[in-house]
Amino acid sequence: MPEQQNKTFYLETFGCQMNVHDSEKVIGTLRQQGYRQVETVEEAGLVLYNTCSIRDKAEQKVFHRLADYKKLQTQGKRFGVLGCVAQQEGEKIFERAPHVSMVCGSASYRNLPQMLVQIENGGTRVTGLDDRETDECFETEFTARSNPYRGYITIIEGCDKFCAYCVVPFTRGKERSRTSESVLQEARQMADLGYTEIQLLGQNVNSYQDPAGKRSFAELLTAVGEIPGMQRVRFTTSHPRDFGRDIVQAIEALPTLCDHVHLPVQSGSTRVLDAMQRLYTREQYLERIAWMKAAKREISLTTDIIVGFPGETEADFAETLSLLDAVQFDGVFSFKYSPRPNTPALKLDDAISDEEKARRLTILMEKQREIQKRNYQRHVGQTLEAMVEGRNEARGQWVGRTSQNKVLNFTALEGVSPLPGTYVPVLVKTSFPNSLVGEMVV
Ligand code: SAH
Ligand code: SF4
Ligand code: F3S
Repeated sequence: MPEQQNKTFYLETFGCQMNVHDSEKVIGTLRQQGYRQVETVEEAGLVLYNTCSIRDKAEQKVFHRLADYKKLQTQGKRFGVLGCVAQQEGEKIFERAPHVSMVCGSASYRNLPQMLVQIENGGTRVTGLDDRETDECFETEFTARSNPYRGYITIIEGCDKFCAYCVVPFTRGKERSRTSESVLQEARQMADLGYTEIQLLGQNVNSYQDPAGKRSFAELLTAVGEIPGMQRVRFTTSHPRDFGRDIVQAIEALPTLCDHVHLPVQSGSTRVLDAMQRLYTREQYLERIAWMKAAKREISLTTDIIVGFPGETEADFAETLSLLDAVQFDGVFSFKYSPRPNTPALKLDDAISDEEKARRLTILMEKQREIQKRNYQRHVGQTLEAMVEGRNEARGQWVGRTSQNKVLNFTALEGVSPLPGTYVPVLVKTSFPNSLVGEMVV
């Protein structure tokens, strides 16, 4: 590497919150090894991509990036692929993009320091790949969190559910939980540093099992919410099969636990859920929704949906639409089914055309938009607490977020500049399908 680029790195992250948080840990680990982060590929000696493979489009992004920068290899830059595409494709990446020197899946990040040494010594095919056997979590005291008020904590890594369409069990290895003590220790340290919002992360937080047998997931949630100074605790993602009533009771009992649950349903048809190997029926899903609707605090509900899974008929799709009516979600992330390597659903015939998937997606999104338009109106006239995130100069508004995770833009009193990370009361005046607008009150 040319001298001035020595020990500098650029990192771009794709994918879910787990990847975003892994990148914070990777950055911390690299800094600990004497590396300095830079803002552009051009400035960097080491260029890293933390990748996502959840749908084909996500996977293709990294190969586009690598193709764009291939010419820069001649300047002595080294390239590394981390994350889910790295684990999935393994050494095949070296064939497809010969200028890549390192391929490392998330279950091997604890080996990054040794891998960096190999690269510094001229290694060109350095690998860290997992065989789904590891029991270790990537815990590090070097985490470089990018936001000083709100932070992530991983409580469980990997996934053993093997939903028929999903790459995650293959890209993130087997399910393994951290002890509740180590999670609480990290949460307390964050509270001491001034963090007031913590989001507990896992592909399936509800199957959390304290290796020390001390706390259930709901008890861990409560313990984090009771840390002095903690104002908001969130968690994602929940799996309906493992979602227990004790979580609803915890949210009811403790105001610091946010009144929002993201509970991916994927389909409203039991027949499709069965083909997806989701391990619950439409009725069981709706039972969990009923628990939340009956809670003493109003709980905001959001979900994920896949349209066009192999064999999904018009009637199945109609059941998904009717589920939207029944639940009245505050948000839906919807996706066209994308066949993925290694997954059981690959054996099924992906016979629904892309046009048909797109048609179903549009119908679903339009329906949900109408539902959200009505749902968000219920907040007009309410005074909600917003965590201040920043300022939108173009609109002359402050940007905030409610406990239910809704965007709440607001105007402040003359001469008042609310500080990012503080909490302010806002009277909601107007609503849109995805955001609220109001005025700060005293
Ligand atoms: N662990 C979470 C989801 C992780 S992936 C859970 O169990 O719900 C996030 C979302 O991506 C999923 O909820 C699903 O809706 C979508 N997704 C996953 N695999 C997909 C695929 N092959 N095609 C389309 N969407 C997919
Ligand atoms: Fe994928 Fe299913 Fe695991 Fe979620 S629970 S990560 S959808 S296999
Ligand atoms: Fe993508 Fe891996 Fe997350 S596949 S969604 S980055 S777990």
